[in-house]
Amino acid sequence: MMDWIKGLGKKKSVSLQSEISVHKVPHHVAIIMDGNGRWAKKRGLPRIAGHHSGMKAVKRITIAADEIGVKILTLYAFSTENWSRPRDEVDYLMKLPQQFLLLELNELIEKNVQVRVIGWREGLPEYTLEALDEAVDRTKNNTGLILNFALNYGSRKEMLEGMKRVTVDIQAGKVHLEQLDEEMFSSYLQTDELPDPDLLIRTSGEQRLSNFMLWQLAYTELYFTACYWPDFSKEHFFEAIEQYQQRIRRYGGL
Ligand code: FPP
Repeated sequence: MMDWIKGLGKKKSVSLQSEISVHKVPHHVAIIMDGNGRWAKKRGLPRIAGHHSGMKAVKRITIAADEIGVKILTLYAFSTENWSRPRDEVDYLMKLPQQFLLLELNELIEKNVQVRVIGWREGLPEYTLEALDEAVDRTKNNTGLILNFALNYGSRKEMLEGMKRVTVDIQAGKVHLEQLDEEMFSSYLQTDELPDPDLLIRTSGEQRLSNFMLWQLAYTELYFTACYWPDFSKEHFFEAIEQYQQRIRRYGGL
């Protein structure tokens, strides 16, 4: 009895059992937060209104994840491909870290959340970098959930750069080719010492990985939902966790 988390699933729109096992909570959850634009369009709002609501969902889901004992939450906030969007939209997305710092971070600090960032700094405006650095710095001693933003991130670029760096180390004699295994190669990726995600969630009904953590997702359970990211509630999140808990992970074995 005490092994179950009670009181979930209050929303009528989501058919959900009311219990999550505390024994099989995914350690690391990664999310492709998709559908902000369509959420806004459905309401006759500009796309940036969808991104603003998406930022609110970030806080909501971080708190929900922390509540059930998830230790790492990696969120795909901006891909290396997103630069091709209209200028206004990119500008707005680049201002979100500032808004997040101002409006949402204090509540997460109270929850002992530690903010981290993966992706490339090059190309990001100074004000975006400053906001990110401040969020990382203000939370660096926190020991709770790791909230890891993937911003200006792309998985192929990450792997290619990892390959180049490991090649340089091999040429310099710091690494012997025979030593290079999966674990060592992982340390050359941006996720470095973070364990691979156990569960990947993608909202909005799309079922693809969009250049997100391709190496790290090798054995991850995938969960797709039609719900747009700004609508993604605590109950939707718990439903994903429940589904994950019903899966049997075999890692290629029987
Ligand atoms: C995809 O939806 C979403 C994004 C490209 C941006 C996601 C960013 C956030 C939710 C906020 C992140 C918060 C911080 C603090 C960085 P889309 O625009 O592709 O939606 P569509 O497919 O419906 O057009």
